[in-house]
Amino acid sequence: MSEYRLTRSFHFSAGHRLVSAALSEEENGRLYGQGFRAHGHNYSVEVTLTGSLDPATGMAGDLGELDATVARVLLDRVDHYDLSSAVPALDGVITTGENLARTFWGWLAAALPPGRLVRVAVVETANNTFEYCG
Ligand code: NI
Repeated sequence: MSEYRLTRSFHFSAGHRLVSAALSEEENGRLYGQGFRAHGHNYSVEVTLTGSLDPATGMAGDLGELDATVARVLLDRVDHYDLSSAVPALDGVITTGENLARTFWGWLAAALPPGRLVRVAVVETANNTFEYCG
């Protein structure tokens, strides 16, 4: 059986600040640099699904369904919020790209059919992309 992978990009804007509760104010400033100050990003999130081709439709996945799921479980929760203080599901999470990718994976995996999700990539800036693959 051949396997296809479909990737769709989504966008949201949000504020955040990188702070570790395990570190002092000074250590946080040294470690995270500019990221320690409150700031924002225009994030992209790439969601990759696996599927086999349905010969009747020529498609391996329904992107419209994916759009609805991602809007409901991810974008509606984070778009134009402060990720460090205004999103209860991120309480206690240091909002690095790594942690966001893993957290978003958890939200999406719970809402998608089992085994379909293969990759979540958080594109934080033109230079930084963080991928989580389960
Ligand atoms: Ni940042």
